Amino acid sequence: MIIDMDQTSAGRAYQWLASTITPRPVAWVSTLSAEGQGNLAPFSFFQVLTGDPPTVMISPLHRGDGGLKDTVLNIQATDEFTISLVPFALVDAMNQCSVSYPHGVSEFAQAGVAPAASTKVKPPRVAASPVSLECVAVQCQPYPADKPSCYLILGRVLALHIDEAVLGEDGRADPARLDLVSRMGGDWYGRTRAETNFRLGRPAGWDQAQR
Ligand SMILES: Cc1cc2nc3c(=O)[nH]c(=O)nc-3n(C[C@H](O)[C@H](O)[C@H](O)COP(=O)(O)O)c2cc1C
Repeated sequence: MIIDMDQTSAGRAYQWLASTITPRPVAWVSTLSAEGQGNLAPFSFFQVLTGDPPTVMISPLHRGDGGLKDTVLNIQATDEFTISLVPFALVDAMNQCSVSYPHGVSEFAQAGVAPAASTKVKPPRVAASPVSLECVAVQCQPYPADKPSCYLILGRVLALHIDEAVLGEDGRADPARLDLVSRMGGDWYGRTRAETNFRLGRPAGWDQAQR
């Protein structure tokens, strides 16, 4: 079976991509409005782009009514955001934050999520998340230019907070201790758990210069 995207509606194309390009990490994005009102929303169209400089990307879709999501409006207004990763223990609170509350209503309060102060940006992070990134937007552009459906937001990571309890013996983040959730398409989610994780070293002949 082949899906010809030229013959496929945007909605179906989204479903095919979102249900096959998995697992996707979930960015729990905290922003402030120009007036300083908090906002917290999950986005799984999220990735790391490069470590030099440390850069991540999210691409919030336009709302169904064509308007912009509060996350985009706030980043346009302030340039700052934090991304907290979502452990299994917080999955219900994260899900609650996907409700479209009126602009200015803080999902921190609505979902009972405790904030923690950031150090280099104003938006708080999620206190109980094991990993949070403090970011400044280096790009916030509609895509595609002729008929935008989303915003491409690139964030330069200024600081990374990590709970030392999730570090393994080698001092690196241990995926099983992180137990992060990922989006799998539809209502399905995944977890980074010991039962399903495995190690695989680089093959013989791998060139260290490639990184
Ligand atoms: C796990 C999860 C992942 C999501 N990923 C996205 C995404 O990548 N892009 C998007 O536009 N909306 C995504 N949503 C929906 C947004 O979270 C939702 O539209 C939210 O109300 C946006 O909030 P805001 O208007 O406060 O920015 C996701 C929802 C959930 C539960």
